[in-house]
This record gives sequence, C-alpha cells and structure tokens, in this order.
Amino acid sequence: MSEAIVLEDVHKVYKTPAGEVHALRGISLKIPRAAIAALMGPSGSGKTTLLNIISTLDRPTSGRVEVLGEDVTSLDEKRLEKFRLLKIGYLFQSYNLVPYLTAWQNVALPMLAAGMPRELARVKAKLLLELVGLGDAVDRYPWQLSGGMQQRAAIARALANSPELLILDEPTSNVDLDNAAVILGIIKLLSEVWKTTIVMATHDPDVAAMANTVYTIRGGQIIGGVAPRREVKVDVERAKEIYDKISAIDSSWR
Ligand SMILES: Nc1ncnc2c1ncn2[C@@H]1O[C@H](COP(=O)(O)OP(=O)(O)OP(=O)(O)O)[C@@H](O)[C@H]1O
Ligand SMILES: [Mg+2]
Repeated sequence: MSEAIVLEDVHKVYKTPAGEVHALRGISLKIPRAAIAALMGPSGSGKTTLLNIISTLDRPTSGRVEVLGEDVTSLDEKRLEKFRLLKIGYLFQSYNLVPYLTAWQNVALPMLAAGMPRELARVKAKLLLELVGLGDAVDRYPWQLSGGMQQRAAIARALANSPELLILDEPTSNVDLDNAAVILGIIKLLSEVWKTTIVMATHDPDVAAMANTVYTIRGGQIIGGVAPRREVKVDVERAKEIYDKISAIDSSWR
C-alpha cells in the first residue's frame, strides 16, 4: 500500500442561495507516501476545496477518496474525527488559532484531545514552537503575534500529533524570506526523515520547487502535473535536532 492519497473523479458542488458552484470537476490523482505534492493555480481554482476533501473535513459530492489506506467516503463522522485527529495535520489558510489560548496551549490542544499527558503535551508544544522559530513567544496570545507568527504557530499546531499526512494551505503566504526558509526546512525534514506525506497549496515558486509533483489546477480541474526540476537548498540540521527530542516524547507514551 504505497499510495497515501487516491482520488477518483472527485466532484464538489457547493449549493448557495445564489445557485450552485461547481468547485471541483472530476479530480483524479495519486500521491505516494512520503511524497510532497503541491497545488498551484489562480484564486478560486479549487485548491482549498481539494485540501478540505483530502483532509476529510469535507466530503465530495461524488467520486472516491482514499486517504492513508482508508476509503474515507464510507467512514462515519465519529470514526473520521478520530482518524483526522491522530493522522492528519492541517494548516488552514486563515490559521484558525483559538484566541483565548496562548501559543503553546493552541499547539497542545490536539495532543490533549488525543489523550497525551498534560505535562508531555506542554513540553512537546514548546518544542514545536521552537521548531518554527517561536521559542520566545510560547506564552503569547494570538492577538499578540504578527500575522507571520500566527501562521508559524498554526504550522506547529498542525504537527501536534506527529501526523502521517500534513496539509498546508499556503504555508509561506505571510512570512519573510528567513522564516520561509525555516518552514521549507521543516517540510523537507518531515518528508525525508519522518516519511510524512505533504500536500500543500501555494503561490510561492520556492515552495512548489520542493515538491515531487506540482499539480496545476484551474476551474476545478487538474490541467497538468509536472515534476519541478529545481533543487532547493534548505538547512534541515536545526530542525532535525529539535525533532529528535519530539520523537523521544512521542515514543515515551505511545
Ligand atoms: N463553502 C463554500 N460555499 C460556496 N462556495 C464556495 C465555498 N468554498 C469555496 N467556494 C467556491 O468554490 C470555488 C473554489 O474555492 P477555493 O476556496 O477552493 O479556491 P482556492 O483555489 O483555494 O482560492 P485562493 O487561492 O483564493 O485561496 C470558488 O468559486 C469559491 O467561491
Ligand atoms: Mg484557498
């Protein structure tokens, strides 16, 4: 079972008071485990809609969706919830941090939901924030963070339960070049060392260049899948050191 994601003829139609929006029109793709896949395309082309379906947060109107070996179109909501919590991390385009929780509490939330002991969750949350360069901001509330810092905190939260599948909706849209390099380093480390499958929507050519495959999406259809040729140099050493501590925590309670 080498495919992380299999989509077959997926359609999504949103019903709105103004009429129907056919957001996805027959998407079929296969993404192997530990691969990095990037979705590129203009605003409104269906990238977020597709990520929502791959993340199992939303269901297709028709078509088949298989994620990490599960036919998720046939799972009920309760089983899906657990599946998502333990196996899938999602960076939302709008971050969705909880405003009345500090940065580390936001990151710890999915761990506590998964039953991790509170003290371990606190330590792991702080390590994840250090990983994204927010080691000094762990006790700040979202409103005390810049947009780019909120984005990185939301990436740390997406990694909370060490997901097998990481979904990133525009992971570098709000960060400067240095922090984009940090995020690229994390993506590379996760894919190469931890065998995490990564699917991301991006407008950033440097992010897309890291992918094994770049899918171009337009009007809800994939109009091309190419393997980028450019090798992006990123520093994974710093990230690796922190991630080794994180995996020690994971193996201490699982
Ligand atoms: N919940 C919804 N209800 C109705 N229409 C929606 C909904 N979500 C998205 N759409 C519509 O579906 C289409 C695809 O939207 P989507 O958010 O997937 O685009 P996108 O490629 O992520 O764009 P962007 O680059 O701006 O983030 C658009 O026409 C959008 O207006
Ligand atoms: Mg979007």
